[in-house]
Amino acid sequence: MFHWTIRLFLVCLVGYVSTPATAAVKKYQFDIQVKNVSRLCHEKPIVTVNGMFPGPTVYVREGDRLLINVTNFAQYNMSIHWHGLKQYRNGWADGPAYVTQCPVQTGQSYTYDFNVTGQRGTLWWHAHISWLRATVYGAIVIMPKQGTSYPFPQPDFEFNLLLGEWWNDDVETVVKQGNKLGLPPKTSDAHTINGKPGPLFPCSEKHTYAVEVEQGKTYLLRIINAALNDELFFAVAGHNMTVVEIDAVYTKPFSTNAVLIAPGQTTNVLLRANQAPGRYFMAARPFMDAPISVDNKTATAILQYKGIQNTIIPSLPQLPALNDSAFALNYNAKLRSLNSPRFPAKVPLNVDRHLFYTIGLGVNPCPTCQNGTQLTASLNNITFVMPQTALLQAHYFNLRGVFTTDFPDRPPTPFNYTGAPLTANLQTTKSNRPRLSKIAFNSTVELVLQDTNLLSVESHPFHLHGYNFFVVGSGIGNFDPKNDPAKFNLVDPPERNTVGVPTGGWTAIRFRADNPGVWFMHCHLEVHTGWGLKTAFVVEDGPDADHSVLPPPKDLPPC
Ligand code: C2O
Repeated sequence: MFHWTIRLFLVCLVGYVSTPATAAVKKYQFDIQVKNVSRLCHEKPIVTVNGMFPGPTVYVREGDRLLINVTNFAQYNMSIHWHGLKQYRNGWADGPAYVTQCPVQTGQSYTYDFNVTGQRGTLWWHAHISWLRATVYGAIVIMPKQGTSYPFPQPDFEFNLLLGEWWNDDVETVVKQGNKLGLPPKTSDAHTINGKPGPLFPCSEKHTYAVEVEQGKTYLLRIINAALNDELFFAVAGHNMTVVEIDAVYTKPFSTNAVLIAPGQTTNVLLRANQAPGRYFMAARPFMDAPISVDNKTATAILQYKGIQNTIIPSLPQLPALNDSAFALNYNAKLRSLNSPRFPAKVPLNVDRHLFYTIGLGVNPCPTCQNGTQLTASLNNITFVMPQTALLQAHYFNLRGVFTTDFPDRPPTPFNYTGAPLTANLQTTKSNRPRLSKIAFNSTVELVLQDTNLLSVESHPFHLHGYNFFVVGSGIGNFDPKNDPAKFNLVDPPERNTVGVPTGGWTAIRFRADNPGVWFMHCHLEVHTGWGLKTAFVVEDGPDADHSVLPPPKDLPPC
């Protein structure tokens, strides 16, 4: 008894020393500015933060408060999303334009003010308006609380790898052209690693990311998929990686020769520099197992052992084939929450609300488009329309007429979702106002996302704002409500903020709706978000003021 008291006292003391009552406040200034950048022998003006591409890394410690002041010097409206930050009661700092805020207009500023609570690991930030995130993105590194260690061997060094896409043309023009035609905008000209395509591309010798490693040391690689439309494989020649964290949640470690990462996702891996000293390519290339055209080019960067000559030509890693579905299924099946006493997986075991959403492509009439039609996308056959006012403001101030809360819990008519391709009757429902789904505070939600063969099957990375969710099940074909739930993993399923719904398959996620506000959910392929593959949840306030949406900040941008 006495022994335990002392232990408890010591633990409290350490806890007190390492987490002072006043958490640190970290401040950043983000100037949105246009800068000329050249890649692949093409120079063009791009939108940046502080003139950097990729933008600055935000370093923060779990428990800190962040104040990030965004000042917009560009000609475009801007808003920034802190992808994966939960923003408890504080959707005002979440960032998606017209969902939680109106954009920051040219010449204006807005300070994103939020606490980083109960999360540690790698996340990222990006523009959340139109396709501006093509160049406006950066890493967020959340260090564990002072005095707290990783649940894996402490790495000697770490570095960030932001995977992206590059277009030779102005990206906003590319999107406009696509919309005018009613067709997909043209695919990117290159993939990039930390903004650089690597030496396999023209004029790219000097646009190659290289990192020096020391024989015998262990490195933590913080990999972020910031690409707009491409799921990517990533590998390092001659080296295996150990996955230890996804979307800022620790996982059961496993070794792999390649990582699969969808837009929006992050993956931390440990890499041991244990090979013959030399130069090794790190490479990223898409995964696409549907009949859809994609930029299939390989971005490379160099892992260079200390003391090795720059003239040695690096070897390329073996990446899985472009359409290697088996690798994807197998890789995703290996992802498990750590689920340790310190980091338990709090999977909801009972479900209050069952949702079933079909993901579909479609074709709608478009008098102004070249063919009179335009490609579109939908959830439960509803193509989401954006409002003129921010949904969170409308919700908080009870503004009528901005949105309705009649988003259906299931598709209008059941059909064989993943049968032969359906090419007729592809029109979707488009209402005047966005349709949202209302969720009771603190209720548990199960959402099954079902891909369909409307036009084509395809894999869709779905991202939910304001929450992490547990990926309790996944399969190919149609979800079977009778037999599939029995196979769910309710013990250590992966916990994340973005999940790939497999091509022609389904994914079941669960979360507890304990964060009041209006939370966007969308496919993180920008082409599909633009086509309306999105919706939002209105999570109601809790029983008292401490469990309700906070009042909006004074400088919230007006519409
Ligand atoms: Cu990273 Cu709403 O997205």
